[in-house]
Amino acid sequence: MMEEGIKFYDASDDTGKRKMSDDVYVLAIESSCDETAAAVVCNGREVLSNVIASQIDVHKIYGGVVPEIASRKHIKCITPVIGEALRSAKCSLSDIDAICVTYGPGLVGSLLVGVGAAKAIAYARNIPLVGVHHIAGHISANYIEHKDLKPPFMCLVVSGGHTNIVEVRDYGIYNIIGRTRDDAAGEAFDKVARTIGLGYPGGPKIDKLAAEGNKDAVAFPRGHIEGAPYDFSFSGIKSSVLNYVNGCNMKNTGYNQADVAASFQEAVVDVLVSKTGSAACEYGYKTIVMAGGVACNSALRAAMQHMCDKNGMRLYCPPPVLCTDNAAMIGAAGYYEYRNGVRHDYTLNAVPGLKFE
Ligand code: KG4
Ligand code: ZN
Repeated sequence: MMEEGIKFYDASDDTGKRKMSDDVYVLAIESSCDETAAAVVCNGREVLSNVIASQIDVHKIYGGVVPEIASRKHIKCITPVIGEALRSAKCSLSDIDAICVTYGPGLVGSLLVGVGAAKAIAYARNIPLVGVHHIAGHISANYIEHKDLKPPFMCLVVSGGHTNIVEVRDYGIYNIIGRTRDDAAGEAFDKVARTIGLGYPGGPKIDKLAAEGNKDAVAFPRGHIEGAPYDFSFSGIKSSVLNYVNGCNMKNTGYNQADVAASFQEAVVDVLVSKTGSAACEYGYKTIVMAGGVACNSALRAAMQHMCDKNGMRLYCPPPVLCTDNAAMIGAAGYYEYRNGVRHDYTLNAVPGLKFE
């Protein structure tokens, strides 16, 4: 948390430029959910700073993100977080070539804070403004970590709000071939964690507890959709865990939390890996990329690696800090948008339900 001792950006703090003339520096801002984040990224690949003020401690009291609280916290943190990003990158706004900001999808009140800040800086300094899709950001986190990674590739995006299989044809060119029909994978992790009495956010807690459980203890359903082999459904497994837990409680038999966590995780991982593998085979890709908060999951990483090894495919994942929400990934995606000529004007607005097509 960055509330106490807030330091505002002061241009006189600048410690001097180290930018080469053809380098492109972007200042990136991300505030779509419960993280206020700013970063300075050079040429889409090199992170000069990556500042994240997390609100998890506030929201976990309520068992999930409270939108009104999130936007108020963003308002408090946005200016100092941007200041800190510039300061730790040792650059000033005069070094910045473009301001990149997540403008959707996400919580409208949260998005508006980042978009407002980005527009204000872009206007005040007459710097190009580039709105970035949050999912494009998650995918582009991989460009930071893996300097050799270039499109095309097949990407599984798994976060708290999204589950997609995406064909990345080129920088900024995406073709969605699979989507969730109901809950996102991360949402299912968080809801199941609540059902079995773990706190928020549930994903990391299930991941940890599952290591002590038996993944074959309970046979939870794998969601498949007739005629849509790459689409997902997680509401069935979520209800199935709830029914199982309620049944055990009614019979007074109790249940083994770790076994339920491991069996649930196994069912989700199984579906994610098998659909991604089939999509890569059908579309002829040998490079698989993962992105989003759920890509931190150790069982998912291990199973996806195993599938890739078996099929002669190469797997790329960001490190955990770049899997969950951050602004460096928005800077990476924004750089390629900027290079592709994307510019937004000051009418750019937050779009909570922004489509990815
Ligand atoms: O990408 P992200 O930070 O935010 C969204 O764009 O939604 O993803 C957050 C989600 C949460 O649902 C969280 O429970 C999940 O990622 N998550 C995990 C793990 N770490 C974070 N899920 C499973 N295993 C993990 N280790
Ligand atoms: Zn995200």
